[in-house]
Amino acid sequence: MTQQTPAFQSALNLADYQRLAKEALPHSIYEYVYGGGADEITLQQNRSAFDNLSIWPRVLNDVTKGTTATKILGQAWRTPIMLAPVAFQKMAHEDGEIAAARAASALDIGMMVSTLSSQSMEEVSEQLSTPKWFQLYWQLDRDYNLALIRRAQKAGYQAIVVTVDSAIHGIRNRAQRAKFELPEGIEAVNLKDRPPLPSKAFTPDQSIVFQGMMSEAPTWEDIEWLIKESLLPVIIKGVLHPADALKAQRIGAQGIVVSNHGGRTLDTVPSAMDVIPAIRKLVGEDYTLLLDGGIQRGTDVFKALALGANAVLLGRPQFYALAVGGAPAVAHMLRILREELEVTMALAGTPCIADINSECLLNRD
Ligand SMILES: Cc1cc2nc3c(=O)[nH]c(=O)nc-3n(C[C@H](O)[C@H](O)[C@H](O)COP(=O)(O)O)c2cc1C
Repeated sequence: MTQQTPAFQSALNLADYQRLAKEALPHSIYEYVYGGGADEITLQQNRSAFDNLSIWPRVLNDVTKGTTATKILGQAWRTPIMLAPVAFQKMAHEDGEIAAARAASALDIGMMVSTLSSQSMEEVSEQLSTPKWFQLYWQLDRDYNLALIRRAQKAGYQAIVVTVDSAIHGIRNRAQRAKFELPEGIEAVNLKDRPPLPSKAFTPDQSIVFQGMMSEAPTWEDIEWLIKESLLPVIIKGVLHPADALKAQRIGAQGIVVSNHGGRTLDTVPSAMDVIPAIRKLVGEDYTLLLDGGIQRGTDVFKALALGANAVLLGRPQFYALAVGGAPAVAHMLRILREELEVTMALAGTPCIADINSECLLNRD
């Protein structure tokens, strides 16, 4: 009897996973996940920001003691890569976030679990033996936010990541065109006990944006309050402006994810790669900076570290791999990326993460 080779084994890199996922997923779901805001200019820049940088190859260095090990928030990480929070992963595979968590654990890679996960934060936590952080989407009721972060702590999460860049969605024309809707049976299970939102009537001179959705959005005061109340370190995700980064540091956030939400919110904002050097300069060498948006190759991870990131997050690549082959495919994808990073470090003559800096890139000092 001949055994069928799983589809994912033909994937040689993360772009292959994207291609295979496009074939495997319903059109509307693929378009929703792939798509960016409006004209997708930021989405494209998230890629070109990497492609436009060149790495200096350095020859004849001894790299036989090489390692991708690093420390983030005092925790030992095997590699400076983490799974980004990606909502509703059951859209990709019936095993959802649990499969992603198993894969991450197998590869010794951490995971941020979304408020909008399609399996409960407790179920996912049980499968995660690596760094596990809970991503919070701010909810209107302060007490309810507190309940969520206490619940996360009880479930074993070690940090809270509060996402601040998407109080309202960007203009998502691609998803609209594809008539994307959340499939039946998939829901935000973590929020089942959320108090109902007060119903609102708008007068003709009121805006559904300013007086509607944005009236539920957090402000700096709310985040400061959250940081004071949280017994876990708080990281702020979705910061691009250096002044906001500095403010986040000053109010006590333990780190920042420099991110434009995968180009999915406001279009034409800069890529994280374009702004991270200025942010690193302001916050100092020791502050924790993670970065995401467009990571597809080991060389991308290397370039992000060279410009000042301590680690990077993967959004769409985990969803694509999950869609192609569940947990084994996510593990395979992560292994590919880690090995690509190792190859890059070897050929750039940088055996350790601490050796990677802006001098490794052409025209950067
Ligand atoms: C389908 C999808 C769902 C996402 N869901 C969340 C979420 O629930 N919370 C969050 O903070 N970010 C979310 N993000 C943003 C990712 O965490 C991450 O910032 C972004 O995807 C990184 O870019 P990349 O996809 O190019 O790797 C989502 C992104 C995608 C593509």
